[in-house]
Amino acid sequence: MKILGIETSCDETAAAVVQNSTRTLSDVVASQIEIHARYGGIVPEVASRQHMLSIVPVIEKAMTEAKTSWQHLDGMAVTFGPGLAGSLLVGVNVAKAIALSKNLPFTGVNHLEAHIYANWLNKGKAPSFPSLCLIISGGHSELVLMKGHGEFEKLGRTRDDAAGEAFDKAARILGLGYPGGPAIEKEAIAGKPCLHFPRAWLKGTHDFSFSGLKTALWHFVQKNQVLGNSSFVANVAASFQEAVIDVLVTKTINAAEELQVKQILLSGGVASNKSLTQRFLNTSPIPVSVPPPHLCTDNAAMVATCGYYHFQNGNFSNYDLDVVPGLSLG
Ligand code: KG4
Ligand code: ZN
Repeated sequence: MKILGIETSCDETAAAVVQNSTRTLSDVVASQIEIHARYGGIVPEVASRQHMLSIVPVIEKAMTEAKTSWQHLDGMAVTFGPGLAGSLLVGVNVAKAIALSKNLPFTGVNHLEAHIYANWLNKGKAPSFPSLCLIISGGHSELVLMKGHGEFEKLGRTRDDAAGEAFDKAARILGLGYPGGPAIEKEAIAGKPCLHFPRAWLKGTHDFSFSGLKTALWHFVQKNQVLGNSSFVANVAASFQEAVIDVLVTKTINAAEELQVKQILLSGGVASNKSLTQRFLNTSPIPVSVPPPHLCTDNAAMVATCGYYHFQNGNFSNYDLDVVPGLSLG
């Protein structure tokens, strides 16, 4: 079964063809990072207009690289939320237009669910249930119990900033540019986590909170002569990163042990952070699945794989599919 995945929820225009949920035939991502970097963050209006310009060439490229013709496709999967409304609209409308003209079935996919399915594109054995999913992206930090395909129970979420958002804001405070996650990670390599920043444990819950850490970082930078001193910046970046990793790793492993899951599945842009994944792999007594970095950040292969399981469950969408910017999972 060959599925075309389409992803336009945020600032990546992506299309991919995946066969039988695991074999990626093509995986095309047109990033808008350079455009938004000029503004220090994503400008929604600019994002949707850029998706409109990129979507058709990106889909054509994905079909060409997959050496697939429209007759040989079995269906399409498209992200319909959560995300930026104007961006989601571009992907969903293109999917509907193709469905109409090529007579293809399609299914609307939850972007957070799609992130989890990046773990099915990993080499090796498919994940087993129940699994505990940590989704850490620019807009979300969630712990979700996955009992089977399409069966999710939300255990915890961030009460304020998402982990990726905290990285982005910290990088801005430190003058490291956008996107902040990769910039902080790079800077942290040159530093030592020798400064103490607060960790919000929110004991007794599976929730997260990162805004206190961000504020503490801001006050620290105001009080001390950090900016302009490269080794100081590196130490602050490393210490900030360490605080985020401590909380994400400790809370996830504790929840996994408590729930006696078979596996921990990482996903979302922040899961491409090597220090974070190394800490998980070195300390977790429960097996941890980590997709390669290009499958952690936004892509359409994960959307196609997720769509495969929707079709298996008989979950098809109609032309009345609308975008749901605030869609949640579980
Ligand atoms: O999943 P994603 O690509 O898009 C969303 O769905 O939001 O995640 C983007 C987020 C950004 O906040 C970015 O700074 C963060 O993931 N990120 C990282 C790294 N690479 C991307 N955070 C920490 N370390 C990284 N290496
Ligand atoms: Zn994402």
